Amino acid sequence: MRRNRIIVSLAFCFALGTVGALTAADLPGTDPGEFWTYITRQNDYTQWKFFPGKEGIYPGQSPHGAYLKVYVNDIAYEAAKEGRPMPEGAIIVKENYGKDQKTLMAVTPMYKVKGYNPEGGDWFWGKYGPDGKVMAAGKVDGCIRCHSVHKTKDWRFLHAK
Ligand code: HEC
Repeated sequence: MRRNRIIVSLAFCFALGTVGALTAADLPGTDPGEFWTYITRQNDYTQWKFFPGKEGIYPGQSPHGAYLKVYVNDIAYEAAKEGRPMPEGAIIVKENYGKDQKTLMAVTPMYKVKGYNPEGGDWFWGKYGPDGKVMAAGKVDGCIRCHSVHKTKDWRFLHAK
């Protein structure tokens, strides 16, 4: 009996360890299509938390949508709450809606990849159509230039504590 219990606990620990390892290794690469699959299938961003302090839909500004929703994965959520730069693996997904607050026009994520682009805060930038069509992705000049006004703040406009 006792030995069985030990085996069960061991198996449980092992399973937990595997899950932990999978999560870390499970981060997507910077291939635009692979990244989209990751945030919509493997780790569906619509199930994530909102950026702290920006819950739900809110009015945006050009060039982003008239209305916005900003989702963050757990890594990004913790960093945002603590007001520190986002570590590797942080993902912020912004949905851009039209004036009717219902029509999704584009999805513009930022994904922190260590060593990917030190001159641009190590962010991977993407702009996707609502159906996942890649409109721009990678070290996107337009995104980087505008967001560079906050280069001392992790290249982000949104900050929360
Ligand atoms: C002309 C300026 C400008 C350009 C170009 C721009 N952004 Fe932004 N971005 C903003 C502003 C302003 C906000 C804050 C939006 C708000 O909450 O009102 C923002 C917010 C964001 C956020 C939320 C995180 C943050 O920075 O606070 C993401 C994600 C984002 N932008 C992605 C992108 C991507 C990807 C591109 C390129 C495809 C891009 N942006 C191009 C101005 C810009």
